Amino acid sequence: MNKNFKQILLSEIKRIDTVGSTKRDEVIIDGFTREASPKALIKNKKYLVFNSNDYLGLRFNKDVIIAEHKASDKFGAGPGAVRFISGTLKIYKELEAAIAKFHDREEAMVFSSAFATNVAVMSCLLKAQSKDSLLSNEVCVISDTLNHRSIIDGIRAASIEKDQKFIYKHLDFDDLRKVLMENQTKFKRAVVVTDGIFSMIGEHTDINKLKTICQKFDKEYEQGVFLVVDDSHGVGSYGATGRGCEEKSHGIADALVGTFGKAFGSDGGYVVGDKVFIDYLRESAATYIYSNSISPSVAGAALQSVKIVSSTKGKTLFKKLQDNMQYLKQQMVKAGLQFAAESDHPIQPLLVGDTMKAKQLKDMLFKQGIIVTNITYPVVPKGKDEIRIQINASHTRKDIDQLVKCSAKSAKQLGII
Ligand SMILES: Cc1ncc(COP(=O)(O)O)c(C=O)c1O
Repeated sequence: MNKNFKQILLSEIKRIDTVGSTKRDEVIIDGFTREASPKALIKNKKYLVFNSNDYLGLRFNKDVIIAEHKASDKFGAGPGAVRFISGTLKIYKELEAAIAKFHDREEAMVFSSAFATNVAVMSCLLKAQSKDSLLSNEVCVISDTLNHRSIIDGIRAASIEKDQKFIYKHLDFDDLRKVLMENQTKFKRAVVVTDGIFSMIGEHTDINKLKTICQKFDKEYEQGVFLVVDDSHGVGSYGATGRGCEEKSHGIADALVGTFGKAFGSDGGYVVGDKVFIDYLRESAATYIYSNSISPSVAGAALQSVKIVSSTKGKTLFKKLQDNMQYLKQQMVKAGLQFAAESDHPIQPLLVGDTMKAKQLKDMLFKQGIIVTNITYPVVPKGKDEIRIQINASHTRKDIDQLVKCSAKSAKQLGII
């Protein structure tokens, strides 16, 4: 490597280390115990995991793992090619049919990740242009301030002009309404996009309210207002039967993005919507046309998870998740711990209020055999530094008691409570 270029890389790494936002210092998990509530094994020590997105505990489910093995036996370890060459294996079509049915949509499309899905959905939606258009820029996009990085990168990938992009204040629908109003004569189509669950503190979007606003402006734009919701953290963990924010708020997005890599315990992303929209994506999405799908084993596991979540077993897991969440909340309050925000999602933010103390608390919990994540300024506002706790259906009351006891003891030592 050229030594001048090497110096640039070294100084950038040093800058990151100096501001304390190092990410490459990763915790290496050697394996997991095979208990009903699996513990991570790190250097022969057991750890309770309270920072996983596996909200239903499905990644350790026996039937999911059997399905994973069966799929690789049948289809091989990898897809062999991208979908339109020879990589369309029956397991992908079955998974797409199952997830479309789960969300009550005409069609679904599977990608290697939800990140790749958002890049495809946003860039394709913003590039779609009528042939006879006199306007070179007929579409605008309106995005929540705190949307996930993959949505932002999807918008960037569309290479549209700066004056086609708008950001509305976080969860502020009056601000969204204002932006829609101001632009109704300037563009033929508006695309509104939001996360379902915002994963930093577990807030949720009211899809019904959002859809009502989009519908109100639909006739003001010649090609309407198209609503995209990325509910990666909500699906499988939120709403009466795990259908996420749409179910919770009784609203439907035009395109719903999800992941198999969180509550479904597997991996890969997907989008569901009308057939014509999915057909268009299959013809135009670069992260689908030029990139492999998930491996067949991963699709087999995801398919089994969707079947479980749709069944009575899924309802039982979902009930256990809700019970665990309520129990955690009660015990935290009893122990005098405060939340950084009110959340009815398995993401529960414990308020620390100081960047350094949040890191210290995370480290103290780690020493006591508990893994959590500290989320600090500028990701959350100043004074809202937190420990993000993620509860799942496999946790036992004993696990939760241990978390609360250790958190309260360490928080007292740090002068947080
Ligand atoms: C809202 C949201 N969208 C997309 C993703 C990406 O998911 P995946 O790991 O499937 O790419 C995440 C994961 O952090 C997320 O939180």
